[in-house]
Amino acid sequence: MITLTVNGVRRSFDGDPTMPLLWYLRDELALTGTKYGCGIAQCGACTVHLGGEPARACQLPLSALEGADVVTIEGLHPQGEHPLQLAWREIDVPQCGFCQPGQIMQAAGLLKRTPKPGDQDIDAAMNGHICRCGTYPRIRAAIKAAAGEQA
Ligand code: FES
Ligand code: FES
Repeated sequence: MITLTVNGVRRSFDGDPTMPLLWYLRDELALTGTKYGCGIAQCGACTVHLGGEPARACQLPLSALEGADVVTIEGLHPQGEHPLQLAWREIDVPQCGFCQPGQIMQAAGLLKRTPKPGDQDIDAAMNGHICRCGTYPRIRAAIKAAAGEQA
């Protein structure tokens, strides 16, 4: 039995311990905001917070998550009004939207560590988050807006 917390709710898991967290979130908890892109740690679509830090849920087996604290895009803010979510809407960042939950969770980790990130901080943090729609300039602008800067 594996016990973990997801979005503030204690959960017990008694299934295959090799199952990646991404499958557990989507298929068992119906938290489908976290996306399956590549399954091999190459795209960032599955990014959640683990112990407050961005982590790729496709690479985390349940066996490694005893006592873990996981937050998904659904748990980032109770009303979906995290400063990044507000900025994302204001700037109309998404195109198809598929990559955006992962982008926002990664950016939220960045702002926690670096409340006023510069371009280099943003590049370093967001590197490896693929957007096939090419929304990178709007992502950068929204991160800066959320940080209270002019884009
Ligand atoms: S689905 Fe996890 S990094 Fe692509
Ligand atoms: S908005 Fe379409 S993949 Fe990023």
